[in-house]
Amino acid sequence: MKTLIKNIKELIQVETAPRHMVKGADMAKIATVKNAYLVVEDGHFAAFGTMDTLPEGRYDNEIDATGRMVFPAFCDSHTHLVYAGSREIEYIDKIKGLSYDEIAKRGGGILNSAKRLQESPEQQLYDDAMQRLEEIAAYGTGAVEIKSGYGLTTEAEIKMLRVIRRLKETSPLTIKATLLGAHGVPMEYRGRQGEFVDLVIREMIPQAANEGLADFIDVFCDEGFFTVEETDRMLEAGAKYGLRPKIHANEMACSGGVQVGVKYNALSCDHLEYVGDAEIECFRHSQCMPTVLPGAAFFLNMVHSPVRNMINAGLPVAMASDFNPGSSPSGNMQLVLSFACVNYRMTPEEAINATTINSAYAMDVVDRLGSIAVGKTANFFITKPIPTYEFMPYAYGSNKVDMMFLNGKRI
Ligand code: NIG
Ligand code: FE
Repeated sequence: MKTLIKNIKELIQVETAPRHMVKGADMAKIATVKNAYLVVEDGHFAAFGTMDTLPEGRYDNEIDATGRMVFPAFCDSHTHLVYAGSREIEYIDKIKGLSYDEIAKRGGGILNSAKRLQESPEQQLYDDAMQRLEEIAAYGTGAVEIKSGYGLTTEAEIKMLRVIRRLKETSPLTIKATLLGAHGVPMEYRGRQGEFVDLVIREMIPQAANEGLADFIDVFCDEGFFTVEETDRMLEAGAKYGLRPKIHANEMACSGGVQVGVKYNALSCDHLEYVGDAEIECFRHSQCMPTVLPGAAFFLNMVHSPVRNMINAGLPVAMASDFNPGSSPSGNMQLVLSFACVNYRMTPEEAINATTINSAYAMDVVDRLGSIAVGKTANFFITKPIPTYEFMPYAYGSNKVDMMFLNGKRI
């Protein structure tokens, strides 16, 4: 099956020599081809170039993209999109002035979602999550990492991971699964948090790993949640099973999360509202992708991660949606682009790099996704007619995706 997309106004984020991330000043650059063609064959990008170099050939399918642009699909490297119910009532509490921490302390927040998830049948969780996957794909997402973490018992965590496995098997999106056993401390473990950490180490990690249910391990390492020492113990246990960390760190404070993540060769440290010189220095000597979640900072009205300091220090930055019922009930990566530009003063080019190549690295799929390069998997979208690529973050709130393709097929 060979598809030609011709007369593309601008083909965005092309690579002839694919990179595994984009750092520092290079984040401000993206390569594009104006008046382009793109050939997709058997689910992969087979060729691209300017229209005047289009080779003679026969195609099974031709699409005329006059006035439209083609982007690689977004990679959303941090979500919690398997969940039960919603939490709009807490959202009202927040509007009235309660903090995230105060809501969590009285059994709301993650514990509220955990109670609902424990009671929810697997089929319901699967159906709801599948609907969310369809929604994010319609906004341009082609790959997504999904965490457990609303189970908080071994049984419910494994149930969540099995739902994610079924999604992997049945959805056209590329999906990675992360065990987030240590997302919150259940009420019955209050005052003996160490014993809950023991449970994660003794039961959750071995079971998830032995059933092949997790690609990565995560811990909510922050002030008021899990300590650096506890995180260290859990990441060490995960490493024994080959689970690379992708951790929640420095959302509430400079809590040592980045350092412990890097110690265990984390693929990414995520949130990062609080990042000082020590964290930047630590990232500089690591293979860890600093990942910012603009939707959560927007929705919780938090301080913004010092993205510019990180980029000026030569670091790469990725951005993801954090799609979850508490702190970011949206998986719309086009909105993430707009937040990146408005709230973090990133240029559109930096925002595009953060949500494609760099977020592909942060979920370990950059060898096959995150850019338009010959041989990579053909996950891409054709936009509605738009004047410039800068229009993508600028025209916030509307869906600029017209046709979405995953593995070379229109969905
Ligand atoms: O990434 N910060 C920790 N965990 C989630 C929030 C989960 C929730 O509130 O349900 C996050 O923002
Ligand atoms: Fe999260």
